[in-house]
Amino acid sequence: MTYTEKDHHFKRYTVTSALPYANGPVHIGHLAGVYVPADIYVRYLRAQGEDVMFIGGSDEHGVPITIKARKEGVTPQDIVDRYHKIIKDSFAELGISFDIYSRTSSAEHHATAAAYFKKLYDEGKFIEKVSQQYYDEEAQQFLADRYITGTCPRCGNEHAYGDQCEACGTSLNATDLINPKSALSGSKPVLKETKHWFLPLDQDEPWLRQWILEQHKEDWKSNVYGQCKSWIDAGLQPRAVTRDLDWGVKVPLDEANGKVLYVWFDAPIGYISFTKQLKGNDWEKWWKDNDTKLVHFIGKDNIVFHCIIFPSMLHADGSYILPDNVPANEFLNLEGDKISTSRNWAVWLHEYLKDFPGKQDVLRYTLCSNAPETKDNDFTWKDFQLKNNSELVAILGNFVNRTIVLTHKFFEGRVPAQGTLSELDNSVIAELKTFPERIGRSIETYRFREALAEMMNLARLGNKYLTETEPWKLFKTDPERTATVLNLALQICANLAVVCAPFIPFTADKMHRMLNLQSLGWRDAGRADILACDTQLEQPELLFEKIEDAAIEAQVNRLLETKRQNELNAWQPAAVKPTVAFDDFGKVDIRVGTVLECTKVPKADKLLQFRIDDGMGSRTIVSGIAKYYPEPEKLVGMQVCFIANFEPRKLKGVVSEGMILSAEDKDGRLVLITPSQLVTPGVNVG
Ligand code: MF3
Ligand code: ZN
Repeated sequence: MTYTEKDHHFKRYTVTSALPYANGPVHIGHLAGVYVPADIYVRYLRAQGEDVMFIGGSDEHGVPITIKARKEGVTPQDIVDRYHKIIKDSFAELGISFDIYSRTSSAEHHATAAAYFKKLYDEGKFIEKVSQQYYDEEAQQFLADRYITGTCPRCGNEHAYGDQCEACGTSLNATDLINPKSALSGSKPVLKETKHWFLPLDQDEPWLRQWILEQHKEDWKSNVYGQCKSWIDAGLQPRAVTRDLDWGVKVPLDEANGKVLYVWFDAPIGYISFTKQLKGNDWEKWWKDNDTKLVHFIGKDNIVFHCIIFPSMLHADGSYILPDNVPANEFLNLEGDKISTSRNWAVWLHEYLKDFPGKQDVLRYTLCSNAPETKDNDFTWKDFQLKNNSELVAILGNFVNRTIVLTHKFFEGRVPAQGTLSELDNSVIAELKTFPERIGRSIETYRFREALAEMMNLARLGNKYLTETEPWKLFKTDPERTATVLNLALQICANLAVVCAPFIPFTADKMHRMLNLQSLGWRDAGRADILACDTQLEQPELLFEKIEDAAIEAQVNRLLETKRQNELNAWQPAAVKPTVAFDDFGKVDIRVGTVLECTKVPKADKLLQFRIDDGMGSRTIVSGIAKYYPEPEKLVGMQVCFIANFEPRKLKGVVSEGMILSAEDKDGRLVLITPSQLVTPGVNVG
């Protein structure tokens, strides 16, 4: 039984984690926000002997998937097949211990979601509305918001989408756009009537208010509670649960040809359909029994869907339980910048696993200790290295290693017996006893960072004990006392093996193997006799190894390269300057000249000094292009354009009589402008 459930003991736990969209791989933001905490929670509950079901799967519908497919010239199914596999495999390798990881394109899911809709429809739970939506007559399709572009009425950006202008951040309706254009055919869309089904959320307000704002005031996280409150206070509106689209779960009504369920209607039903896939006929108690505790792990952008819309769907059916808690996290940033799939600003799980083989626990540890539980947080590679080197290696790894090495050295690797206990021993034993409950309570209340820090404190206690007792010295004078000390240190190791398991399961397995520990439950921890005397230990293997600077630099450099690429991709021509009169242009005297000499200006790494045949003799011009022409002598004989009537000015001691024209490319490179055929030096350009 868990520690915090005073009044109500739940018989089982249904734990869900948000279904990631299968239009890209999973990154550290997803992990820190959702999957690492969810996995810690379920591993802990299992260690407590609780009956737990942990549900995951890919969200394979929605417009972005169809857009990506169209861009690549493949089918949406191709896209989701590709990413579902990457996501599923990488989760498994990280040790995210789903009981099932399924997908919403599966036939079982389609059947369950369609039946869910049909039941509510038959019971009259929806309202029907006819509205005007943009339609592409060429492509013969209604257009989802993302398929319409146009000019933003707010800022004039010509590439705004039907739901949002990414230049100024305003959220829009497709009909707000000036000069709307279909992204399918490029044609001008027309408004056409279409019928949709709406969940009348406005009618749910009273019970939602009571259930969330009153009943869960204390136990829901304040970020979650706050968002719910502002949604409810703003007044809930009916929400369309169908779309004109051909990718998704078909609306199971004859009159709804060419319509599918809105992705946010079908996806959470995935939690239910996956339960059916896993449990068969036994599925219902996981969703309908009041003794089941339902917990949704999500990121903050999912709060309204899991706290208001999905509960309203469950409530509309009437036979389901509601979530007991929705411990949503805030966002994780990467090196000070928002994680972004489209800008490739992310650490991708499948790439991490390739770059750092065998280091799953380092990532799990770092992400948990940095989890954005109460506010957005930042992941940096430096911090990742620091957490590994100065916590996992220096504290946990060091303690376990020293203890086992000394046991081999002095006692042939057999757990020595405890003799008479000193005052220090007794106080360590008393402290040891308090850890499992303290860690457990933190996990049960979704404070995973705190729980992890406490786990590490137990390793600190072990290190402190060794420092105070110095068994490596003690053995010579007092082998009996050394036996007691190492026994106690080994008991701490064994306790660590139990309480670290939810967080760093691969390490826990290693420790179990090294200590020849039977698998123990959470309630066995806290005692100083869980490792039997005389147990033969295995040879110690290092739990963690130091991460060198080079490995970190490689990651940082990759991010810098991404940043550079993004800047290039974002390049746009500068705005055209105000109109000038022809006469004004005529005042600038631009001419062609031939390069006679070209050398570097001493002590000025940017500057080249040209001697130019200008048809009247020759002149010197200094130009800041040295970086782009590393072999200046090769420019001799080439023709360049220059401004002949600039006032002479001194640059690094050289008088420059004019300016040579060059173009600045988007990466900042300067390129000389040269006539397409040889001309007479001194002629005008105009
Ligand atoms: N795919 C959604 C996202 O990544 C989450 C869906 S959660 C579910 O934001 F409940 F709808 F499944
Ligand atoms: Zn705008």
